[in-house]
Amino acid sequence: MKFLKASLFLLTMLSAGAIAQTSRDAKMDQFISSLMQKMTIDEKLGQLNLPGAGDITTGQASSSDIAKKIEEGKVGGLFNIKTAQKIRDVQKIAVEKTRLKIPLIFGMDVIHGYQTVFPIPLGLSCSWDMPLIERSARIAAIEASADGINWTFSPMTDISRDARWGRASEGSGEDPYLGSQIAKAMVRGYQGDDLSRNNTIMACVKHFALYGAIEAGRDYNTVDMSRVRMYNEYFPPYKAAVEAGVGSVMTSFNEVEGVPASANKWLFTDVLRKQWGFNGFVVTDYTAINEMVDHGLGDLRTVSALSLKAGVDMDMVGEGFLGTLKQSLEEGKISQQEIDMACRRVLEAKYKLGLFEDPYRYCNIKRSKTEIFTPAHRKEARATAAQSFVLLKNDHNVLPVKKSGTIALIGPLADATENMTGTWSVAADFSKSVSLLNGLKSAVGKQAKIVYAKGSNLTADPKLEERATMFGKSLRRDNRSAEEIRNEAIQIAKQSDVIVAALGESAEMSGESSSRTDIGIPDVQQELLKELLKTGKPVVLVLFTGRPLTLKWESENVPAILNVWFGGSEAGDAIADVLFGDVNPSGKLSMTFPQVVGQVPLFYNHKNTGRPLAEGKWFEKFRSNYLDVSNDPLYPFGFGLSYTKFEYSDIKLSSNTLRHGQEITASVTVRNAGAVEGKEVVQLYIRDLVGSITRPVKELKGFQKISLKPGESREVSFKITEDDLKFYNSNLDFVAEPGDFKLFIGTNSRDVREADFKLE
Ligand code: NOJ
Repeated sequence: MKFLKASLFLLTMLSAGAIAQTSRDAKMDQFISSLMQKMTIDEKLGQLNLPGAGDITTGQASSSDIAKKIEEGKVGGLFNIKTAQKIRDVQKIAVEKTRLKIPLIFGMDVIHGYQTVFPIPLGLSCSWDMPLIERSARIAAIEASADGINWTFSPMTDISRDARWGRASEGSGEDPYLGSQIAKAMVRGYQGDDLSRNNTIMACVKHFALYGAIEAGRDYNTVDMSRVRMYNEYFPPYKAAVEAGVGSVMTSFNEVEGVPASANKWLFTDVLRKQWGFNGFVVTDYTAINEMVDHGLGDLRTVSALSLKAGVDMDMVGEGFLGTLKQSLEEGKISQQEIDMACRRVLEAKYKLGLFEDPYRYCNIKRSKTEIFTPAHRKEARATAAQSFVLLKNDHNVLPVKKSGTIALIGPLADATENMTGTWSVAADFSKSVSLLNGLKSAVGKQAKIVYAKGSNLTADPKLEERATMFGKSLRRDNRSAEEIRNEAIQIAKQSDVIVAALGESAEMSGESSSRTDIGIPDVQQELLKELLKTGKPVVLVLFTGRPLTLKWESENVPAILNVWFGGSEAGDAIADVLFGDVNPSGKLSMTFPQVVGQVPLFYNHKNTGRPLAEGKWFEKFRSNYLDVSNDPLYPFGFGLSYTKFEYSDIKLSSNTLRHGQEITASVTVRNAGAVEGKEVVQLYIRDLVGSITRPVKELKGFQKISLKPGESREVSFKITEDDLKFYNSNLDFVAEPGDFKLFIGTNSRDVREADFKLE
């Protein structure tokens, strides 16, 4: 009875919610229909236009180049403009000087924090901590919205399996399941449960679709893959973002099945809207419509029409829509209805953000003074950064380092304030970031002496260094000879008790248009590392990077390696927290580290092939392998050490048979067998042994991050239902096929316990 009452109550609440939603939608529809009745074709096309803001200085909005365009009703939104005052000035032009007073939407690449910068997304994903990731997006939304912004071009959910691709740094790695959880967390963090609140912003999932699968890891290159692979391996994180209610989607630069994404009707109309039920708006990537001329799809008029017809609503920067759609309409190449649909979707986004009610909703000058880069946000960013670091090696417990004696900090990334935030940190004030040098100094105070030398430039090649330190992220190149710079450091290192080598990539060595063919630590830095090791002092490699690097030599010769990615504005303090053991590292790789670049793309959830290598072997003639290197990764997906040790029991299954409509439970007991408290990510993988199509050797299906005190044990359980076993078959039906399965639980994708079960 009690249950019945509770259910009735719940139903009433749900339907009340649904009714409220429907009436809100009805109100919105009515509002927009009546507005659109008044709009001319030019005004409608203006709504589809998203130029970059250019150089608008505070107080000069009305005399800027863009002002005239706005006044003429040729602009639907602007991007990469910030500060509440400037945005207020620009918004004023739209709502006071245009005929219909339609407010603008203001977008920005708020990718991993705003002024308080969190770790780069690849680093953040290694925390495997969804509440933490959601909070980072929440804080980014609070700060961005306090500075006038109401729309972010994030999350990027492109599956990345190729470490050569610089943009791997902007995503959540190689796994569709982990990527989907993160996509949902980020959308929730940005959008909250009410987009019209003044501290939530609209998210934009990107880049739809398959951008991470570009050939040879060379940015903007071609993609070609089967639909089965798209649906099973690449689509899930985009779909998860849609299911989480993401307000907008961005097209990708690459082609999909021979048609560039920005003109791909199958992607945007069939998959995104019809199959997944997406009801927000689609924006192109930067000049992606114009680029279809170079792709070879026709002139600007043709490609703009194709894009609109594909289901794209807003044109970023290129003005193909603005300049050509009217003529295409007159020529009957596109319909009035297609323009109306795109215009309606853009207006709906503005309505949902509450901009028609109050166009200045996000322009609260007081908020911009009190809610950005606050001590509370910085504290959260510091704690988050520490969770993103991955301990790759720690022989003889070199780490944690004691706060005593002399610590030599050596390397081009050691005093590199401007590089700490990593790629895509457009709102950051780089000078406010905490460098590793400052982090170490403030952590030790008077307890230890920190001595510092640069030791080497980023790389021997000054031209490469120039390309890798753009956007104000200089590493202040030292023009002395490599030997001179190195010798100075070695002298200092020799007087220390322990050496911390801060090496790796610069911030802009990954990110957009930063693909690499050699993914090792650059030349002069490796030479420096070798010389540091020769001193005989214990060496800790603090590795800065935006992608998996090839570290075979380092993994064999350096006693401790802590991968810190680019930790954000508080990176230096966070690294010190982990180096000195105030925080125990718990990050786990979300992307496989190869031994050599020739192995990429290398990922854990690959297929078995018809000629798999026998377990334990590394070469057999006529098997799928290489002559010169084993198939193994250097560090597998899910890998990461701790200052403590975790022991896993065997797996207990509640039953070896999973029946249709039922569930089984798989449990392990995890024990902290070390001397310090630590966090562990317990990972569940499943293999479908026989299928109507070939299935991966392992797929992540669940994980739990737990914290255990020394000596403490905990039983960790996972429920498995038929849904966890579903995949898209060759008809693209989402099915679970009865048969035999293997289940694995462990500390990473390689080191696991096994059990077997059947689906009946
Ligand atoms: C190009 C990038 O591909 C995209 O991710 C970004 O959001 C836009 N530029 C806008 O800056």
